[in-house]
Amino acid sequence: MARSVSLALLALALASVLQATAAQTTHIVGDELGWLVPPGGPIAYSTWAAMQTFSVGDILIFNFTTGEQDVAMVTREAYGTCNSTNPIFLQTTGPANFTLDSVGEYYFIGTMDQHCPLGQKLAINVSAPGPRPSPIPPPPRGPITYTVGDSLGWLVPPAGAIAYATWAFNKTFLLGDTLVFIFINGTQDVAMVTKEAYEACDTNNTITVLNTSPANITLTTTGEHFFTSTFARHCDLGQKLAINVTARSTANPPSSSTEPSSSGTTPVSEGPSEALAPTSPVSSAPSHLIGGFFITLLSIAIAFI
Ligand SMILES: *[C@@H]1O[C@H](CO)[C@@H](O)[C@H](O)[C@H]1NC(C)=O
Ligand SMILES: *[C@@H]1O[C@H](CO)[C@@H](O)[C@H](O)[C@H]1NC(C)=O
Ligand SMILES: *[C@@H]1O[C@H](CO)[C@@H](O)[C@H](O)[C@H]1NC(C)=O
Ligand SMILES: *[C@@H]1O[C@H](CO)[C@@H](O)[C@H](O)[C@H]1NC(C)=O
Ligand SMILES: *[C@@H]1O[C@H](CO)[C@@H](O)[C@H](O)[C@H]1NC(C)=O
Ligand SMILES: *[C@@H]1O[C@H](CO)[C@@H](O)[C@H](O)[C@H]1NC(C)=O
Ligand SMILES: *[C@@H]1O[C@H](CO)[C@@H](O)[C@H](O)[C@H]1NC(C)=O
Ligand SMILES: *[C@@H]1O[C@H](CO)[C@@H](O)[C@H](O)[C@H]1NC(C)=O
Ligand SMILES: *[C@@H]1O[C@H](CO)[C@@H](O)[C@H](O)[C@H]1NC(C)=O
Repeated sequence: MARSVSLALLALALASVLQATAAQTTHIVGDELGWLVPPGGPIAYSTWAAMQTFSVGDILIFNFTTGEQDVAMVTREAYGTCNSTNPIFLQTTGPANFTLDSVGEYYFIGTMDQHCPLGQKLAINVSAPGPRPSPIPPPPRGPITYTVGDSLGWLVPPAGAIAYATWAFNKTFLLGDTLVFIFINGTQDVAMVTKEAYEACDTNNTITVLNTSPANITLTTTGEHFFTSTFARHCDLGQKLAINVTARSTANPPSSSTEPSSSGTTPVSEGPSEALAPTSPVSSAPSHLIGGFFITLLSIAIAFI
């Protein structure tokens, strides 16, 4: 009996090792952001890289538009100084696939204009294939109140949808956190919509519409949440936000004593604020750093005009 149990365990362990070794992961550099000059500088790709595990055999896809970006593999030194004089490898057509074929550090930069100094650079560590370490659980924390877009607020962003994608990119949304949308009354609204409506920018079918600022939404369900505006063209022009809400780990009960009510997701079309879940002003997301994202974003947008 004990013998067959341990045999079964051995088989299971073997199977999982085999599965882990066989798994070849394709990493799309920057995910939805793609490969470009990231709003906010190099922090975008360093954050992205920190969230991945790279193993020998994995593939990187640098998703960029040919002619607007390129990608060069360079030495550590050239990465540090953004020197594109003598790259190890240069690919000018996008999207570019790159197979990680050995253990060690890899450095990539964009060689066009000021792309690298402005943050189009990626450094990664590739390890031997093997069982992947389980993702590190986020450190315990209390509910956070996020101001959507930080100092940008909630509007049609100058650089398009990338603004809110970047804002959400580096954030963890847990049950009980609150989103605060700040805008000028009468010029914007906040519509919670389905994924389909979000993708199609179909704002005829909304789950909830909030008309007055600040519009506070406490996240009371896990999974994906989609927000946009019912104002004409605002969604098409990039006023849209998608986030993933995850449960708090059980070892980490909310430090707030007031349980958020479920009304944050209840459809309301008028008289918004009293229908919203009450907010406990526990902490505010650190904004000095992320505020910089939008200053850079604005300057990039202005540079493009
Ligand atoms: C955002 O990215 C920075 C740089 O990688 C990191 O220090 C910070 O902890 C990240 N914030 C969150 C909430 O993940
Ligand atoms: C690459 O970017 C384009 C345009 O943003 C997008 O349509 C496409 O799905 C992306 N490809 C991958 C593999 O992510
Ligand atoms: C850039 O790299 C090239 C060749 O690798 C080297 O000759 C040159 O001095 C470097 N430029 C700077 C500014 O470091
Ligand atoms: C790049 O990788 C993607 C996703 O794995 C694949 O669909 C595509 O065919 C690859 N392209 C090249 C040129 O290898
Ligand atoms: C790779 O890992 C080594 C050892 O942990 C570390 O010293 C180095 O800074 C890492 N390099 C990059 C590019 O993350
Ligand atoms: C939304 O409703 C308007 C007016 O009823 C209609 O013209 C439009 O086609 C609808 N849009 C979508 C995406 O269904
Ligand atoms: C928007 O309207 C609400 C309700 O009338 C009001 O409480 C709030 O102060 C207004 N906000 C701004 C920014 O004017
Ligand atoms: C919404 O959130 C802001 C910022 O945390 C707070 O000042 C305000 O009192 C909240 N409003 C409501 C109705 O909860
Ligand atoms: C939410 O997470 C799932 C699974 O990781 C992912 O497929 C999806 O794209 C994410 N959605 C958003 C809006 O980030």
